[in-house]
Amino acid sequence: MRHAAILIAGLVLGAGPVLAFEAPDAVAALPRTPAEAARVAAVTASPEEFAVAETYEARSGGAGSVADAGAGAFSHANAALPEALRLDFELGRAMFEKLWVSAPASTKASDGLGPLYNARSCAACHVNDGRGRPPSGPDDKPLALTLHLAVPAEPMAAMSGVHGWQPTAPDPRYGAQLQTFATAGLTAEGRLRVTWDAQEVRLADGKTHSLRKPVIAVDDLAHGPFTPEIMTSPRIAPPMIGLGLLEAIPAADILAREDPDDADGDGISGRANIVWSPAHGDPILGRFGLKAGSATVAHQSAKAFANDIGVSSPAFPAPSGDCTPAQTLCRTAPHGDTDARGDEIDAEGLAITVLYAANLAVPARRDVNDPEVLRGKALFHGAGCAGCHTPKHVTHRVEDAPHRSFQLIWPYTDLLLHDMGPGLADGFTEGRATGQEWRTPPLWGIGLTAAVSGETSFLHDGRARSLLEAILWHGGEAQAARDAVAAMEKADREALIRFLESL
Ligand code: HEC
Ligand code: HEC
Repeated sequence: MRHAAILIAGLVLGAGPVLAFEAPDAVAALPRTPAEAARVAAVTASPEEFAVAETYEARSGGAGSVADAGAGAFSHANAALPEALRLDFELGRAMFEKLWVSAPASTKASDGLGPLYNARSCAACHVNDGRGRPPSGPDDKPLALTLHLAVPAEPMAAMSGVHGWQPTAPDPRYGAQLQTFATAGLTAEGRLRVTWDAQEVRLADGKTHSLRKPVIAVDDLAHGPFTPEIMTSPRIAPPMIGLGLLEAIPAADILAREDPDDADGDGISGRANIVWSPAHGDPILGRFGLKAGSATVAHQSAKAFANDIGVSSPAFPAPSGDCTPAQTLCRTAPHGDTDARGDEIDAEGLAITVLYAANLAVPARRDVNDPEVLRGKALFHGAGCAGCHTPKHVTHRVEDAPHRSFQLIWPYTDLLLHDMGPGLADGFTEGRATGQEWRTPPLWGIGLTAAVSGETSFLHDGRARSLLEAILWHGGEAQAARDAVAAMEKADREALIRFLESL
């Protein structure tokens, strides 16, 4: 019965009738009373003065925030996680860090790697539960940088009511992702070679700043050159903190921020991604992945097992992972469920991994009342950053999950898609996301990136080496915000960065 509790906390939460695009959590959640709704509106309103920190501002992840600013800052359990789930959380950590081996092996519980894969563990890409590191040059292996693949496909009847949804399918030869490793006797699909193009930008104070953009070549393609219609998207592993809290934000609150036609004329539109959720058999609001292509932490995690590590699960049962029917050798290679064991990872193993992935704590803020941080916060609002990086949300009342229930959280994201201009475009469509759109990433914990990862690299492909570089790449709907920062005096720009570093 212990595991029934996990399943409720992590995987099947909200199975049952699904409201239009509503997140699974909402179904298990209690509706807000009018009094609660008024309270939520009051606490999530924009601040009017910046002389002192707001109430609870230091607790980015609500009651479960942890005070650790060191290398392990992203690796704690949500401090409010009930005692009864803590053992399973630690078992989930072991799954996240487990190094998978290829089948057949004497260690049955760890075999099932591949045949095609990008890494042997979740933690190899989500290093210290933080973000992955991009390669420094052509000789450095781009482990945590994955190349997502898709081709245009036939429309899907169940999604026909979703405006702007673009049908795509995995590439018929290379699948949904380019796997750069293969188990013994098989050939990897190809090799990524990353070089960097430098470009100079001039800021208003006369200083120039050098930006770099990756040029990604694919060598040694095992099944012939890419077809002209293939779309590719290079993506680096994002940090893992606070994901269960993001999952518990009411879908209605996220949808209420959409402004597809920019009716308020602020230059910022914002559209929700709506994706097909296999677990619910319905279109659901997408929240996870860099284009919000997954509805739940469970779905994104099962997808990671299948595509990144080549491990099958009840959600992705194909034992040969992302091998396509065109890859015959790969299809017939030995795998971890040739015995009577079933999937390479079972429902329980998947559920504890999801429990772990969903419940990593968000670190508390530092220096919230430092005058320079507060000035930076005012500049953040003044420049229009909060138009997408929505500072705060209040989560649903989720039954039996006190650590995620009715929490005031400060993720600095609206979880919506925004056109970020041609500089950041990948030309890859995913659900409703166009080739220029990305999901606003949460900024909580971003100031601890160097402590956790030993270096800083930001944006979807890790191109920005500093927070300022990340801002200078903003274009499209964020052009005005970017220009405001480029026009700032040095002292103001530094205060803005100080604020980001305190997140
Ligand atoms: C090869 C590198 C790699 C490995 C291994 C990997 N991931 Fe990821 N992870 C990524 C990338 C890249 C993304 C962004 C994916 C996207 O945009 O669709 C991601 C995104 C995620 C997200 C969504 C985070 C967010 O902010 O939306 C979750 C959850 C996740 N991974 C869990 C896992 C789990 C669990 C495992 C192990 C089973 C794993 N990952 C293994 C690279 C990796
Ligand atoms: C129109 C919406 C929008 C506005 C306005 C905006 N951002 Fe962003 N921001 C995004 C999106 C989307 C990304 C991800 C882009 C990518 O990865 O290619 C992003 C990425 C970032 C990142 C890197 C995050 C990471 O995890 O790699 C930082 C830092 C950031 N923004 C700060 C700011 C600041 C500071 C401002 C105000 C000057 C601002 N943003 C204004 C949408 C916006």
